[in-house]
Amino acid sequence: MEARARIERLRDELHAHNHRYYVLAEPVISDREFDSLLHELSVLEQAHPEFNDPTSPTQRVGGDLTDKFEKVAHRSPMLSLSNSYSAEEVAQWAERVQAGLPGEEVEFVVELKYDGVAISIWYEKGRLVRALTRGDGTTGEDVRANVATIKTVPLKLNDGAPDSLEIRGEIFFPWPGFESLNESRREAGEPEFANPRNTAAGTLKLQDSAVVATRPLDCMLYNIDAEAMTALAINSHSDAVQAAAMWGFKTPKGRRLEVVKSVKAIMSAVAYWEEAKNQLDYAIDGLVIKVNRYDQQRRLGMTAKSPRWALAYKFETERVSTTLRGVKFQVGRTGAITPVADLNPVHLGGTIVRNASLHNADQIAKLNLCVGNAVLVEKGGEIIPKIVGVDGGDSSSGDLFSKPISFPDVCPECEAPLIRKDGEAQHYCTNSSKCPAQVRGRIHHFISRKAMNVDGLGKETVNQLVNAGLIQDVADLYTLTLEDLLPLERMAQKSADNLLKGLDASKSIDFERVLFGLGIRHVGETVAKNLAKALGHIEAFKTTTVEDLMALEEIGPTVAESVASHFRDPVFLDLVGRLQMSGLRMEVTLQKPMGNALEGEVVVVSGVFETMSRDEAKAAVTNHGGRLVGSISSKTTLVLAGDKMGPSKLKKAENLGVPLMDEAAFLRRIGGQ
Ligand code: IVH
Repeated sequence: MEARARIERLRDELHAHNHRYYVLAEPVISDREFDSLLHELSVLEQAHPEFNDPTSPTQRVGGDLTDKFEKVAHRSPMLSLSNSYSAEEVAQWAERVQAGLPGEEVEFVVELKYDGVAISIWYEKGRLVRALTRGDGTTGEDVRANVATIKTVPLKLNDGAPDSLEIRGEIFFPWPGFESLNESRREAGEPEFANPRNTAAGTLKLQDSAVVATRPLDCMLYNIDAEAMTALAINSHSDAVQAAAMWGFKTPKGRRLEVVKSVKAIMSAVAYWEEAKNQLDYAIDGLVIKVNRYDQQRRLGMTAKSPRWALAYKFETERVSTTLRGVKFQVGRTGAITPVADLNPVHLGGTIVRNASLHNADQIAKLNLCVGNAVLVEKGGEIIPKIVGVDGGDSSSGDLFSKPISFPDVCPECEAPLIRKDGEAQHYCTNSSKCPAQVRGRIHHFISRKAMNVDGLGKETVNQLVNAGLIQDVADLYTLTLEDLLPLERMAQKSADNLLKGLDASKSIDFERVLFGLGIRHVGETVAKNLAKALGHIEAFKTTTVEDLMALEEIGPTVAESVASHFRDPVFLDLVGRLQMSGLRMEVTLQKPMGNALEGEVVVVSGVFETMSRDEAKAAVTNHGGRLVGSISSKTTLVLAGDKMGPSKLKKAENLGVPLMDEAAFLRRIGGQ
C-alpha cells in the first residue's frame, strides 16, 4: 500500500481505538496490538514528514474530555510511558540511559504499574484544592469532589509538607470492593462491570460524589513534582516518596518500591512480580522502571510523548488454549440472555477455568466460533475469563461439519422471541411474566439471604414448585398448603412444615427487604433501603413520579425511571397487591421518637460524620421529631453538615439562608453528648 494511504488508514484506526478505550471504555484490541500499530504509524510519519498532521494519534497522549467538570490546564503535560515487553528491551533502554549520562552511576527504582487511572492532585497550604484527570494530557477535568471521597488521599497534609505541592498517582479499584460491587449489581439485576480499571474511570466521572463515596477506590502516588522536591533538597524519587509518606500519603513500601543498580536486578524484580502479582488485592499490568535521581532525570529529559528516564515493563497477559465444548445461553431474572462458553477445564492464573463469558451476540459473531474449536482464553483485568480468539486464527480446528455458533432468535427456556433495544448489546427474552427462567430467577432472588431469607426454602425446591405448576410468582408462595407440598419428591412432612413456617416468619421481614426482594431493576439493597425510608409506605410508591424520586438523595434518573415504570405496570401492581393481602410488611416500622428536640425542623443531612454513619444521622433526625428531606429548598430549616459536604450544597444553603449545624452542635441539641 502506498505510504500516504497506509498512514491515513492507521490514523483512522488508532483514533477509533483511542475513542473505544478512553471514551467508551470498551477496547477491542490489546495494549500490545495498539502499541504495534502506533509504532508502525510513527515510523512511517518519520519517513514521510510531508504528511505531518498535528491531530495524528502520535501527537497526543490520548484521552477524552466530557463537559461536566471544570477543565483546567495541567502545570506540565501528563505524559505516558514507553512500553517494553522483554529483558532485551529493558537492557536497550538502560543502555540509552547510560549513554545519556556518560560515566555516571545510575540507580533505578522499580515500582508497580497500577492498573487504574492517572490523577494529578494539587495541594495549596497543605489543603487539597484540585484533582485533575489526565484528559488529553494538556488539559484535565477537576474531579476534586470525587477524589476527596477516597480515603487514602489526604485532604490536609501533615506539617512539614511544602506550601504548594502537586503529586501524581493512580486511582484504582481493589479487587475485594470491586467484587462486592458486582455482587450488589447482580442482586439488583444490573449488568456487572467488566473490570476494575474501567470501573474506576467511570466512577471518577460520576456527577454524584455520594455515589463515588460508596465505592472503595484507592490511590497510590507515583510522581512528585521534582522541582519542588529539589527546592527542599530532596534529590531522588525514592527520597521524595519517603517524604510524602510523612506528609500523609499512602506510598509503596518493601518490594513495591525497590532501588536497584543493574538490569539483572530489574529483571529479578520482574520475575518476582510475575508470580507475586496474583497475591496483590489490586490489579497491576506491569512494572515501571525509573531513573532515581532528579538531576539525572532532568538531563535525560523527555520525548514529545514520554520521559526518557522511565520505562514501563508490561506483563504478558496470561493466555491458554483449550477446547470449546459448547455455548450455553443463560436467562437471567431480568430476561437478559448471557452466552457462556463451556470449556475443557484448564489451569489459568491460579484457578481452573471451566466457563468463559462471551458477553453478547456481537462478541460471538466477531469470534466466529464453532464447537470443537481450540480457543484462546485470557484472564486479563477481568475476574471472569474471556475467549479472545480461535487458536490458529480461524475456525478450521472445528469439526468439519460444525457450523459457527449463532445467537438464538428465541429464548432458550421458553421460546419467546428475543429483542435487543437500540443502543444495547444485550438480548432480552420478551416473555417476562411466563418465562420459567425469569420466573425462577425472580423467586430465587426474593427468597435470598439479603431479601426475605426464607428458612426451609432453597433454589431446588423453588424449581420443583415452579415445574409442578404450583407457583408462578412470589405471591403464590404464600398460598402454598401442606397438601400442595406433600406430593412433591423428597418433601417429607417435616420439611413441608418448616417451609410453611419459614414463609410465615418472612411476613415480619422489614419493608426495605420486601422492596429489595421485589427485584425492581436497578434497585439493590442500599437503594431499596433509601427508598423505603424516604417514601415510608407502599402506597406512596404507587403515586410517586420520576421527578419526586429524583429529588431524593442518592436516586438518579435510571433508578427513578425503573421504579416509576414498575409501579405503573398492572402485572407488578397485582403482585404487590397479593403480597399485601398475604400480610407482608408494606411500610416502614416506625420507631418511637426518642425526643422532640427537632420538632418543626425540616432537615437535610449531608456529608460524612465522625461518630455516626449518614443513615444513623438521618435516623437520629426522625427519632427526635425532625422531618427529613432529600434536597435543600426554601422550606428547609436546617442542614446537618458533616465533612465533605459538596460545594454546590454549601452554596445553595448559603443562598437560601438555611443555617448549617455541625455534628457536635447536633449531638448537643438532641442531648447525645
Ligand atoms: S510514572 C511521566 N509510575 O501508567 C509519566 N506511572 O502508561 C509518569 N502508572 O500515565 C508515569 N503506575 O497513569 C508511573 N508506578 C507508576 C505507575 C504509572 C501506573 C500509569 C500512569 C501513567 C501510565 C503510563
